[in-house]
Amino acid sequence: MERPIGIFDSGVGGISVLREAVRVLPEEKFLFVGDNKNAPYGSKTREEIITCVDSVVEQLLEQNIKALVIACNTATAAAAKELRARLPIPVIGMEPALKPAHLIRKEGQIIVLATPATLRMEKFADLMEKYGEGAVPVPGCGIVECVESGHIDDAEIEGVLHGLLDAPLRNKTDAIVLGCTHYVFVKNALARVAPHVPLVDGNMGTVQQLNRVLKERGIRRAEGKGSYALDTTGDRKVYIPLMERLMNL
Ligand code: DGL
Repeated sequence: MERPIGIFDSGVGGISVLREAVRVLPEEKFLFVGDNKNAPYGSKTREEIITCVDSVVEQLLEQNIKALVIACNTATAAAAKELRARLPIPVIGMEPALKPAHLIRKEGQIIVLATPATLRMEKFADLMEKYGEGAVPVPGCGIVECVESGHIDDAEIEGVLHGLLDAPLRNKTDAIVLGCTHYVFVKNALARVAPHVPLVDGNMGTVQQLNRVLKERGIRRAEGKGSYALDTTGDRKVYIPLMERLMNL
């Protein structure tokens, strides 16, 4: 099917999902929107996040998308249920990858790094109920702001990560869950702050789910050359080059 797949995030974090999606589904056409004008979502209320999400989704629906990927844990926790009930196209969301992390846990703890809004939401409480044994939620305050301003591998982000993780890392840690798509871009800095601790993210799982859904519905584009287009609600001169840089990392 020729129609594009819409994919969005509060900002540039979703590029980490788009990158994976382009690799796994090279025949598909993707339209990405970063809601950079309204990022971060993680410090907003559920109602505020829903308002932002609705407006971005509206923008994507106007382009006749055949499926919607919410490349944002925070937006999924706040709005996926309503979007699924209301939209005639499949909606693929994401959640902190606590399930795979739980499988590799030995006797240590699992640090779940996610936005304050994600950690506050009912969806996360349900996840903790199922896979939360030994899990320690840590709000990743300040990381999204660093990534949005391009600080992904320098002293500034490293300082933020030390501030957040030095205390919880005093206990034996089996894995850190990157429960926000922005955090995937600070893996190098994280590896310096938490050496030898496995980092688990949900990006591949999300893309595999997208692939499954497209196949099931018979709307997967199986041949031809795919493409992706980048858009932002913020300043194009600032965010499009940053998205391109992250896409090509
Ligand atoms: N990238 C988003 C996530 O996966 C949210 C970042 C934010 O805007 O706070 O949760």
